[in-house]
Amino acid sequence: MDTTTEARRARIVTVTSGKGGVGKSNVAVNLAIRLTEMGRRVVLFDADLGTANADVLCNLTPSATLAHVVAGRYSLADAMIDAPGGFRLVPGASGLAQMAALSEFERSRLVEQLHQIEADADIILIDTGAGVSPNVLSFAVAADQLLVVTTPEPTAVTDAYAVIKTITRRREATDIRLLVNMVKDAQEGRLIYDRITAVCRKFLNVSPRYAGHVVSDPRVPQAVRRRRPFVLDHPGCEASVCIGQLAHRMDRHAADPSGAGLFHRMVAWVSG
Ligand SMILES: Nc1ncnc2c1ncn2[C@@H]1O[C@H](COP(=O)(O)OP(=O)(O)OP(=O)(O)O)[C@@H](O)[C@H]1O
Ligand SMILES: [Mg+2]
Repeated sequence: MDTTTEARRARIVTVTSGKGGVGKSNVAVNLAIRLTEMGRRVVLFDADLGTANADVLCNLTPSATLAHVVAGRYSLADAMIDAPGGFRLVPGASGLAQMAALSEFERSRLVEQLHQIEADADIILIDTGAGVSPNVLSFAVAADQLLVVTTPEPTAVTDAYAVIKTITRRREATDIRLLVNMVKDAQEGRLIYDRITAVCRKFLNVSPRYAGHVVSDPRVPQAVRRRRPFVLDHPGCEASVCIGQLAHRMDRHAADPSGAGLFHRMVAWVSG
């Protein structure tokens, strides 16, 4: 099959982190909503196969998940559900085996269906689990852009560096951006970014770009408890404003996806 002559396709952004609980899923869900408001067709793919929870943040109870898709009981398109704010969600499957543990047949079936989604979206956000499992790596390598989320905590910072190191070893040319979440102000975000980037330059010879910051905002946990994405629950709160800025920066690049599609790269991975 010739996959090199594909028509325009979605830009793929994989959201990941070293440490868990730094805000990946909240960033992914709320970013999906802001990008949708800006007129983009957005699909959020919950690829956190351990503790998937984008559906919980949106108060959705999906009848089909990635597990059903892998088992061949649903197509990916059928498993996709409309989420609050108008984006489409491919619900993750808590407890589903790592992608790497799937049979070759199961993986290729999934990859083929991803291809269909690519043709029907402008941006695909992939929310992953923390750390560098084979599953996370496969989605990181497939992306046009990697959004590494960290907080100012020293452990999160060290783990963010570890993720960048592993991924750049695997694929040098990855477009990596750092998002610093739960900061007290813009200045703290910059400071943490500068610190991580200095180490990346020195030891890895790569310079991640700055995606921006999201302030620590009590409205976020409040919205989580209410199972409402915070940009819908409190559109004017500080964290929502930060997500809006992130969406605008990201949207500027949305129309120019580069390189081979997710499908194409994952085929290489499946047969690798
Ligand atoms: N900007 C913020 N301000 C305040 N609290 C936040 C912020 N971002 C995230 N949180 C809190 O951190 C918690 C964890 O967020 P989230 O589930 O999005 O992290 P995660 O990185 O996806 O976690 P996991 O690694 O388990 O997938 C949330 O329940 C929320 O209360
Ligand atoms: Mg998460």
